[in-house]
Amino acid sequence: MALIAAVKPSTTLDSNTDDFQLANVRYSDVQGVFNAKCVSCHTGPNAARGLRLESWESLIAGSDEGEAIIAYDSSHSLLIELITNLVGGPHPLELDAKSLTDNEISLIESWINQGAPSESGKIPFADADQLLYVANQSEALVSIIDMETNQVVRNVDIKSFGFPENASPHHIAVESDGSYWYLSLIASNTILKLDRQNNLVDRIDFIRPGLLAIDPKSDYLYAGRSMAAVSPPQAIGVIKRSEMTFEEVEIFLPRPHALAVQPFTGMVYTGSLAVNQIASLNPQNEEINLTNLGGNRPHTLVNFAISPDGRWMVGTTELTAKVLIFDLNLSPNMNPVDTIAVNAAPWHPIFTPDGKWVYVGNNRNNTVNVIDMDKRILSKVIEGDGLAQPHGSAISSDGKFVYISNRNLEMSEGHSKHANMYAPRYNLGNNSRIGTVAVIDTSTKEIIKVIEIEGYGSGMGTAARTP
Ligand code: HEC
Repeated sequence: MALIAAVKPSTTLDSNTDDFQLANVRYSDVQGVFNAKCVSCHTGPNAARGLRLESWESLIAGSDEGEAIIAYDSSHSLLIELITNLVGGPHPLELDAKSLTDNEISLIESWINQGAPSESGKIPFADADQLLYVANQSEALVSIIDMETNQVVRNVDIKSFGFPENASPHHIAVESDGSYWYLSLIASNTILKLDRQNNLVDRIDFIRPGLLAIDPKSDYLYAGRSMAAVSPPQAIGVIKRSEMTFEEVEIFLPRPHALAVQPFTGMVYTGSLAVNQIASLNPQNEEINLTNLGGNRPHTLVNFAISPDGRWMVGTTELTAKVLIFDLNLSPNMNPVDTIAVNAAPWHPIFTPDGKWVYVGNNRNNTVNVIDMDKRILSKVIEGDGLAQPHGSAISSDGKFVYISNRNLEMSEGHSKHANMYAPRYNLGNNSRIGTVAVIDTSTKEIIKVIEIEGYGSGMGTAARTP
């Protein structure tokens, strides 16, 4: 397999504009602009929205709501968007004569695209090690969130690797040491391998990839098929991550979607969207077992999650709105030992590190269900701003925060804000359908923050847990 040359993400200029990039901008020059035009409102304890523009550190710390800039990506940085596109005040309109000149805007943009270095050359969040990767399915973009500050710290533009705008990044798996991450591109029929610096290092052609699951103890990465595929091959991809070679292993069920690896045994489980069947695959001897779950109505198995101790697996069903509980000690008999009714269309479930709770977003009623795994009951229904077609889920390694990505797509043209839509904090003219990541504090089980991303938040990935 050919090795793809490393490409730096999203730093190139749109060739249709007459913007120009200045070489090696010093932060002190950027600070000079802030001092002249911004600090009157953005300094000290009363700074507007808590955003203090008095130093590199305070700028990088962001506002009360989130990041002001994203290193290497001026076009998606709120600070640039607000001083160029904001509809209504206070910027750029009310800055009047004090508004930034084109040269000042170019200076700040160039500096951001050079990585937003401090005066001494420090790049923000270069050492962050708790990273959450979020696919923006409608934007050919992956947002990277630092889970310590809950800010977007990088964007990876898939178009910069030569893929089209509709590449449809869908799901992400990350090595346990964070060294590499893998991304499925549904419409481009490709799975990418990227390194910690977000360089593209390898890729494979794979028909309609969907969910990805990594086995941290072996060299295997598994790939299922996208929901968008009507009759994909009845096979999952077994990929050797070190060389990015793969084989398709027949699993004898149509439309394999739900996917998980048991981290101690390496057993792989996949569930069908079309029939009530689960296949288990033992990758050692390629033995396949099929379990018929029965039932008159199709479940449509969306995804699986396995408890950190490897004992329990939960499966979500789109059409019957259930969380099925499986005892993996009974594997490969995959009949559920319990069934919990939940809200409409449960999507990607996630266990807390202690195995006691499962969180799952409900794609069709904008809630997150919290399941008590000891009592086997639906314990709480979380509602709140930012939940709009919940999709992916993730959890910080300390278990403090659960993250739920949201598509936020269902706004019909010409209507005022739909009750189920998230309205962005600022009207930039074209951002009414931005995706979000809702952050839930697991001690209170409440949403504490809504992180705005670009479009159609779908699958998410964090460093795989090693057993
Ligand atoms: C006249 C006062 C004023 C000046 C001058 C001003 N701002 Fe603001 N800024 C505000 C206010 C007020 C808000 C909050 C707006 C809101 O809540 O809708 C804000 C919000 C912001 C935000 C968004 C923070 C967030 O996360 O919500 C950014 C970024 C920002 N300003 C950057 C700048 C920059 C850069 C300059 C200088 C070019 C500047 N501002 C000058 C008043 C000002």
